[in-house]
Amino acid sequence: MGVIVMVKIAPSMLACDFTKMGSEIRRITQAGADWIHLDVMDGHFVPNISFGPGIIAALRNETPACFDVHLMVSRPLDFVPAMAKAGANLITFHVESESPVEETLRAIHEAGCDAGLVLKPGTPAQAVRDWLPLCEVVLVMTVEPGFGGQAFMEGMLEKIEKIKQWAPQVLLEVDGGINPQTGAMCIEKGADVLVAGTNIFRAPDAKEAIKALKQPVKA
Ligand code: DX5
Ligand code: ZN
Repeated sequence: MGVIVMVKIAPSMLACDFTKMGSEIRRITQAGADWIHLDVMDGHFVPNISFGPGIIAALRNETPACFDVHLMVSRPLDFVPAMAKAGANLITFHVESESPVEETLRAIHEAGCDAGLVLKPGTPAQAVRDWLPLCEVVLVMTVEPGFGGQAFMEGMLEKIEKIKQWAPQVLLEVDGGINPQTGAMCIEKGADVLVAGTNIFRAPDAKEAIKALKQPVKA
């Protein structure tokens, strides 16, 4: 018999009904979301635009859940104060962005938030290694960032395993194409947090969808 692993589930608001974000965030909280994943896109770092600190601040009073802000912007350092003020608990940004990595991680901590680095699929694990002591979270993208509803890239599993081995104390988050099958593969490699947009928001019953993602796997 294996050990039961309890993962955290972070529904991505990118997949919710944007005409009713307030009730969607309450619905997902009641359904058992551990974190709320908020994808911020600037139309420059990725070819899409989503929402910014104004929307995040407006949602803050709707749920006590941790706000996990994933910055897909060219200059994340510029947005740290606004995101912290809007109510972010965790701010992750891309190691491929233009902002200086160490300075940005420190700025996030100084703003009172947890900090994490994100890797695009083409970026090797090695790219974040030096900064792992400064990270509470590492987010491994399992699709190209920019859009929800894409297919999971199995080739990322090795990266998850490698980073978890280097830094077992860092929470390993995965994002893109997560469903109960691909999520289980990630958990097996050491993932602690599963981000899921389409799988949860488009499910007939969000509570059941979250429960299925949390299914125990043999460790
Ligand atoms: C993609 C975003 C993801 C996205 C995941 O750039 O970072 O958080 O919303 O969506 P699904 O779960 O539909 O792949
Ligand atoms: Zn994301």
